[in-house]
Amino acid sequence: MNLDLERDFPTIDWESHLAARTQGMKSSAIRELLKMTQIPDIISFAGGLPAPELFPLREVEEACRHILREDGEEALQYGATEGYTPLKEFLATQMHKYGIPSKPENVLLTNGSQQALDLLGKVFLDPGQYTLTGEPTYLGAIQAWNAYQARYHTIPLDNNGMIVDEVEQAYEQALEDSGKPPAFIYVLPNFHNPAGTTLSWERREKLAEIATRLDLPVVEDDPYGQLRYEGEDIPPIATLIPERTIYLGTFSKTLAPGLRIGWIVCPEALMLRFVQAKQGCDLHTGTLAQYVTNDICQRGLLKPHIQQLCKIYKERRDTMLDSLAEFWPESCSWTRPEGGLFLWARVPDSIDTEEFLRKRTLKEKVAYVPGINFYPNADGGHHAMRLNFSYAPPETIVEGIRRLGVALKKALAE
Ligand SMILES: Cc1ncc(COP(=O)(O)O)c(C=O)c1O
Repeated sequence: MNLDLERDFPTIDWESHLAARTQGMKSSAIRELLKMTQIPDIISFAGGLPAPELFPLREVEEACRHILREDGEEALQYGATEGYTPLKEFLATQMHKYGIPSKPENVLLTNGSQQALDLLGKVFLDPGQYTLTGEPTYLGAIQAWNAYQARYHTIPLDNNGMIVDEVEQAYEQALEDSGKPPAFIYVLPNFHNPAGTTLSWERREKLAEIATRLDLPVVEDDPYGQLRYEGEDIPPIATLIPERTIYLGTFSKTLAPGLRIGWIVCPEALMLRFVQAKQGCDLHTGTLAQYVTNDICQRGLLKPHIQQLCKIYKERRDTMLDSLAEFWPESCSWTRPEGGLFLWARVPDSIDTEEFLRKRTLKEKVAYVPGINFYPNADGGHHAMRLNFSYAPPETIVEGIRRLGVALKKALAE
């Protein structure tokens, strides 16, 4: 047979073959933006990237060598959907230390917490069903749940996180609009992505009381809780209402996102559903990455590594806050996060941050994420932006914030 591999194939109309739910699926604005920010020399405050020079390369190398020598056959074999038992045990103990009453049976290892968000959609969301979320909120959660045709009622944030007094009204609205209670409420308690705010203890207690009264499941997404640079830790919502909280954790910000290791802690009655949902996606999380993560944790290397991260990220946060105060017009404002990777800045109403990025700041070779991307109903955030402070070194942060300040002053003067 003579196969012509170079010939052109006719295009067919794929869209007409696809499921209706693909209509709500969009590429992540941040991933698209990250492509734009491949421009050489650009200063990017856009991604949520950890500082690559702080990755624990030596520890991972040692772990790989050790594992392949001692447990190579198991580490390269299929594994249990629930995850590698020693790592589940480590995480259950860790969660216990935070006050969450967990056993290894309550822990499911996932491909990053992004997969946990997708599994939540698969297990909880009927087409057209509402979820409740703070606004702004994590873009990746919207992306995951849009694929399940979710709808959103939102609750505004202030400097103490979600204004939980407004939860009940959002719940009633969802019930009225769809005849069904919302599937769950999504909360980012610590160093919110994108807002940088932390939910106060009083509000966590209030939310626990409201969720219990309304019989509402709570999703507590906590990738940044261990990256605290000042102030006291606040116990997770899961310590108050473990029976109705699905807690999400990840090693992406504390070790490396490329490992793709996250976890869910949830009541045992729910675990089987997540396991079934996960089996259909990927059978299980990568075995070798779980072994490597476990090796680093069991050797006690995680804690000193996080301490090192906190030291460097605190410097970068302080640099960004100082530079904002020095270079930005007084009519702008921003949050002052006690940890995490982001702050949220507001500019005067005459500036639309999407247009400002496209028309001005990319030319000045600085990028950020416009606020609208964090509004699930695309109805706000026009005069806000998310700035990441973990990725760029301090001198680059100063220069990037300076360039943005100059551009802002120019735009306001026109
Ligand atoms: C709030 C939040 N949830 C989940 C994720 C997904 O993280 P990963 O899948 O890398 O664990 C992120 C990543 O930035 C995040 O900010």
